[in-house]
Formats: sequence, structure tokens, C-alpha cells
Amino acid sequence: MERDLLKILISTEDIQKKVKELGETISRDYQGQNLLVVGILKGSVIFMGDLIRAIKIPVQIDFMEVSSYGRSTESSGAVRILKDLESNIEGKNILIVEDIIDTGLTLSYLLDMLKARKPGSIRICTLLNKPSRRKASLKVDYDGYDIPDEFVVGYGLDYGELYRNLPFVGVLKPEIYARCGEDTTPSK
Ligand code: XMP
Repeated sequence: MERDLLKILISTEDIQKKVKELGETISRDYQGQNLLVVGILKGSVIFMGDLIRAIKIPVQIDFMEVSSYGRSTESSGAVRILKDLESNIEGKNILIVEDIIDTGLTLSYLLDMLKARKPGSIRICTLLNKPSRRKASLKVDYDGYDIPDEFVVGYGLDYGELYRNLPFVGVLKPEIYARCGEDTTPSK
């Protein structure tokens, strides 16, 4: 699997350090308060598992799944709720956990939807952020890494549903996209 990579962008050790820091900051910020951590499936699942263990206050967790990317690497722009929250979020402090924020369109849609349910507060935590690609304005409260405009895989992020189980974040070789039937190397 690692042979398919052009390069490693963020190592396992660096991710671990960053997750620990984020967990400490979040624990401090929410000390003495309720917190519902909401993971956005499927990409956030690895980050979410590590992050909640780095948060040292009691938290509840829940998940949502929305359609964004399929096998293709470009967003269709269409956002569909595939799995909704099980919890009632009214009055609760919500922390949305994302693997990556790219254009921000998916999260912006989600935020509007969740705000209508009247949470006490709502913040965003992402491991990776591509600010150069932003189309929707978003305040990212907890930002792991700002990365360049490259399509990345690993640590939960996929290409064609593969590579999520790489323990680091990397960039695929262009020939992998060609093999999977993409016309061009994806930019993002
Ligand atoms: P937007 O553009 O709405 O998209 O912020 C967010 C979702 O797009 C996916 N995405 C990626 N997935 N490598 C991936 O594996 C990438 O470089 C990448 N960029 C965006 C991802 O599902 C994210 O939640």
C-alpha cells in the first residue's frame, strides 16, 4: 500500500503529537461543561478515535454521514444526509470533527442545519485544512494542519474507499489515479 504513495505529507509521530495538543486544548476549553463530539463519517473515524482519547474530560459522541466525495476526487457540490445524529443537541455544546476541510461547502451546509436545532454552542475541529480552496467562509476553531492544494489519503482519508488505514497522511502517485480510471491527476 505504501508503494502507491508519492510522498508522506504528515508522519504518524507528527499526527500523534498534534492530536495530543488538540485534545489538551479542547479539554481546557470545555472544562466543567458538557460536550458532544460529532464525527463526520467516514473520513473522521480514525482522527475521532484518537482525539476523544486525548480529551481528558467526559464527552458524549455521535456521528453523521453526508455525501460529498465518492470515487471521484472533486466535490459534486451536492450534500445529502446519509446518517443523522441520534442525539437531541438542543442546549448542548457541539464539537464537529472533520478529517479535512477543502471548499468548506459540506461543513457550511451542515453547520446551518445543526444551528437550526439550537445547540448551546457549536465549534469545528479538523485535522487537515486547505484554506486556499475555500469557497464558503467558515471559522475553524481547532485546526491541526493547513496543507497545500494536493489530494491526500491516509489516517481516515480515502481514494476510491481505499487507503483509509494508512497510519499517516500521504499523496498518491499519479499512476494510481490513472489506474482507477480518473482522466487527470486530481488536484484536490
Ligand atoms: P468540502 O470541499 O465540502 O469537502 O470542504 C470536504 C470533504 O471532501 C473530501 N476531501 C478529501 N478527501 N483527500 C480525501 O481523501 C483530500 O485531499 C480531500 N479533500 C476533500 C473529504 O471527504 C472531506 O470531508
